[in-house]
Amino acid sequence: MKRVFSGVQPTGNIHLGNYLGALKQFVELQDDHECIYCIVDMHAITVPQDPKVLKEHILDVAALYLAVGIDPKKSIVFVQSDVSGHAELSWILTCNSYTGELSRMTQFKDKSKNKESAPTGLFTYPVLMAADILLYDTDVVPVGNDQKQHIEICRDLAGRVNGKFPGTFVIPDGRFLKEGARIMALDDPTKKMSKSAENIHSRISLLDDPTKIKKSIMKATTDSDGVVRFDVENKPGISNLLNIYSALSGMSISDLENKYEGKGYGDFKKDLVEVVIEALTPIRNRYEEIRNSQELLDILKEGAVKADMIAQKTMKRVKENFGLGL
Ligand code: AMP
Ligand code: TRP
Repeated sequence: MKRVFSGVQPTGNIHLGNYLGALKQFVELQDDHECIYCIVDMHAITVPQDPKVLKEHILDVAALYLAVGIDPKKSIVFVQSDVSGHAELSWILTCNSYTGELSRMTQFKDKSKNKESAPTGLFTYPVLMAADILLYDTDVVPVGNDQKQHIEICRDLAGRVNGKFPGTFVIPDGRFLKEGARIMALDDPTKKMSKSAENIHSRISLLDDPTKIKKSIMKATTDSDGVVRFDVENKPGISNLLNIYSALSGMSISDLENKYEGKGYGDFKKDLVEVVIEALTPIRNRYEEIRNSQELLDILKEGAVKADMIAQKTMKRVKENFGLGL
């Protein structure tokens, strides 16, 4: 079985885009892969965090992982900082990375724009991410398109080390979402649905209640042409809603176009509200059940033990190949 690794940052507002773009795939991959899913709290501290809020967000994301269907009997779920190998391997990889290649990362360029000086952690973020992946001899990394450059540098680092010390790392492949799977903001369908947008109606968070879901969808930006048709160029709002509808219901876009032929946006949106509520209600219920339970803590603890066993084996090999330690 191929091994899968992916990580999500512990932040609030996990939304429909994260679900359709990432979490849903995580669940599907469990059946025929050995999956390891990580809450990357050490990546989170590349920007300032309130310790109390960070702790809550770690548990929020862990509970959501389980609520969407990640099954701890099939997959390893754990918190990054609970396994020390991530930081150790990150340093070793740092010593094999170059400031030039890290300076070219668009995420770093965006986040450090117009600043005279930027936190070093933001700069070496991709190296820690490479360590996450390589620590588990990962074959496949399911991520959004925005992570392409980070996967590329991970492969470069692994290849570079293998060039010096053959057989040190497994070279992973990215598994990227199709462009169509990108969910756009409801209030501005030219932008990605994001955790950080100020307008809460720009996104549907996975834990939104039915009233909020209804409000956000009924307010969603469309166009004045009144035809339910997929056309990203000219009808980005309706196309985005069709994408969401299709992804959650399993109906194809063309079936949906036929279903709503001659009907207005009002009918279409009303049905979409039902589809979204139906998809998210079980997730919300399961989340409420598990979020404050001992079960959640036990699953994360056990996940860390299992992850650590794999990590230690890799670290032993890596240190040996590098001539580190005794
Ligand atoms: P982030 O919110 O950037 O931490 O992303 C977590 C995961 O969700 C990554 O794999 C992203 O690529 C994916 N993701 C984030 N926003 C969207 C979106 N609007 N549509 C599809 N996937 C997304
Ligand atoms: N950088 C990723 C994101 O923002 C999160 C992440 C950290 C990750 N480490 C990873 C994803 C390892 C995949 C594999 O989405």
